[in-house]
Amino acid sequence: MQLPLRGAFPAWLTGTLLRTGPAKFDVGSTTVNHWFDGLAMLHRFSFAGGEVTYSNRFLSSDSYCEAAVKGSLARGEFATDPCRTLFQRVAAVFAPHLTDNCNVNVDAFGGKTVALTETTLPVRFDAETLETLGHYAASAEVGGMVSIAHPHHDAERGCRFSYVVDFGRRSHYRLFAIPDDGSPERVVAEMPIDKPAYMHSFAMTERYLVLTEFPLVVDPLRLMLGLAPFIRNYRWTPQRGLRFHVFDKDSGALIASRTADAAFAFHHVNAYEEGADVVIDVITYEDAGIIDQLYLERLRAGEPVNATGRLMRYRLPLNGGDPMHPVAIADEMLELPRIDYEHCAGKPYRYVWGAGRRPGGDFLDSIVGVDVESGATRTWFADGCFPGEPVFVAKPDAQGEGEGVLLSVVLDARRSQSFLLVLDAQSLAEIARADCPHHIPFSFHGNYFPKH
Ligand code: CO
Repeated sequence: MQLPLRGAFPAWLTGTLLRTGPAKFDVGSTTVNHWFDGLAMLHRFSFAGGEVTYSNRFLSSDSYCEAAVKGSLARGEFATDPCRTLFQRVAAVFAPHLTDNCNVNVDAFGGKTVALTETTLPVRFDAETLETLGHYAASAEVGGMVSIAHPHHDAERGCRFSYVVDFGRRSHYRLFAIPDDGSPERVVAEMPIDKPAYMHSFAMTERYLVLTEFPLVVDPLRLMLGLAPFIRNYRWTPQRGLRFHVFDKDSGALIASRTADAAFAFHHVNAYEEGADVVIDVITYEDAGIIDQLYLERLRAGEPVNATGRLMRYRLPLNGGDPMHPVAIADEMLELPRIDYEHCAGKPYRYVWGAGRRPGGDFLDSIVGVDVESGATRTWFADGCFPGEPVFVAKPDAQGEGEGVLLSVVLDARRSQSFLLVLDAQSLAEIARADCPHHIPFSFHGNYFPKH
């Protein structure tokens, strides 16, 4: 449907914003436990000639289809498991029934549009019609069960990098590359690990891939026995500290492992090399309590949700040397960070944008822009409005970093309606809005795909 506009959408904005997020929390007579468990809905905003159209569609994943037939959740999600008999639990150990409820992010693998969750079952869909097209199958050597919804794109090498965790008698982290030209995935590096960590994202510089092991770890046997929903098998173990493992992108060699004080994070912002150091910017929390805050029961009871962390900078001395003390880059609390990825991924950079929480605020009530060089910040907010992830889109003729706009789907709680907001990325001044006729369930991540 075509959306009514306020303000003028930039005429150069010619492409599509594709997003995914949890949208169905009640399945038959059952309700999922956690916000991350809702069944995925795809959202599509298309831009051309200053006009905006919107459509949405539930992802017809196996998780979704099986739940529809069964009348209740059929596959184990992040924090919810379907009721299973002892026999079914034992069977699941030998043939794990991974969820393909891809409600976390949208990307393109080898030219194919995919929705992603944190298993090795991305789901392909048609970027025009949002029709589900089946699983994206990586080459067999990649293997694994748990993966990540935040791959990195390396324009110079013409590939994306991602990783999987292979659980077993011996568990492994395995980093792999997904070539842009559609040729088979290849394993880049592998590391044995006794107790794998829960990692929602990782860091990339020009030469390195960095796994940041938060001390939220699992005994693989516990996970395979399936006695509790996925994330409830993980234990907060702060005495492990925060461990960084730096791998060479080309040789796969483990260059360095460094340990800092315990912290938790979902999202890395960016990373880069500086002399013999690797600099890593992350939105951190003191512990993994943020996961507990997002159980549906708490959210539906209207309990306060911070949902934001602090932008911290870690410096890893690759030559050894002193332990690192992370430094706060800005006072503002934020989440769902984005950068001018095309110009700055893996390189020194200046701007971060995210959904923010104002002092005393509840949930994500603003959009924040941070200049990481000066620590200066800018904020956009409107009463009763809750913005989602601000996606940066560079102007076609951009000369430098940050020349472009931010696109964010905002819930106006007072009107129970959502709108697509366009801000100038530099000033955070409002350029335009496109009003949706209803509210759009809060989505996690998405990407802008320019029309070629
Ligand atoms: Co994420």
